[in-house]
Amino acid sequence: MKIFETHAHYDDESFDKDREYLLTEMLGDSGMIDVIVNIGASLKGCKDSLALAAKYDKVYAAIGVHPSDVGALTASDMEWLYENAVKNPKVVAVGEIGLDYHYQSPSKDIQNKWFIEQIALAKKVKKPIIVHSRDACQDTIDIMKQENASAVGGIVHCYSYTKETAKDFLNMGFYFGIGGVITFKNAKKLIEAVEYIPMDKLLLETDSPYLAPEPYRGKRNDSTNISFIAEKIAQIKGISTTQVIDKTNENARKIFQLIR
Ligand code: NI
Repeated sequence: MKIFETHAHYDDESFDKDREYLLTEMLGDSGMIDVIVNIGASLKGCKDSLALAAKYDKVYAAIGVHPSDVGALTASDMEWLYENAVKNPKVVAVGEIGLDYHYQSPSKDIQNKWFIEQIALAKKVKKPIIVHSRDACQDTIDIMKQENASAVGGIVHCYSYTKETAKDFLNMGFYFGIGGVITFKNAKKLIEAVEYIPMDKLLLETDSPYLAPEPYRGKRNDSTNISFIAEKIAQIKGISTTQVIDKTNENARKIFQLIR
């Protein structure tokens, strides 16, 4: 099986010069990528994700607004998200949504309000959520419990919390997106979490163009670097890289309901 990339932002302007070439190569017959889910972060990013999904067979879209971008959200934007999530068969999830207290702009209150509203939207359209959570562990878990996010399930993207916290997300039936951070020298806490999380809850992601794994840390990221992440997980789990790629592909198809 080829690699299922569960989280990338190919709408980003850093791909303006070679987006078409890259996507065609990676997703082509001799490329290493099976499917890419392009994740909306702003409303514009959502529109661009839909355009990419329309253009490329193997690109799917998640639409939702990132906590740092919810400041200007309106009820009519929510209406637009709803319409597209319902109508467009290539929308596989609502995201990325969540809380980012590292940058408390907009305020916690505003972030909380729109996280709650977007979980409600996901429940209405019956699609899984893709959660972005940074320095906001307890509030993320509290809101997800209170809003019964496990009714739709989803993915904690770029998982960066502890093994103990992983238990809470596992109890809600959530999956864990593991990205380039796992290859960093200071990844001890994350390695412990990955040791603990069962293989059937792990997913591969790059968050391209961000978070390139070692040995390309700091450079523009793209989905071909996912192999470094798969290798690292294989090493942690004591299985082969092929097993990691196959199992995570199977997991991704399950959560996004993309059955072969
Ligand atoms: Ni992202």
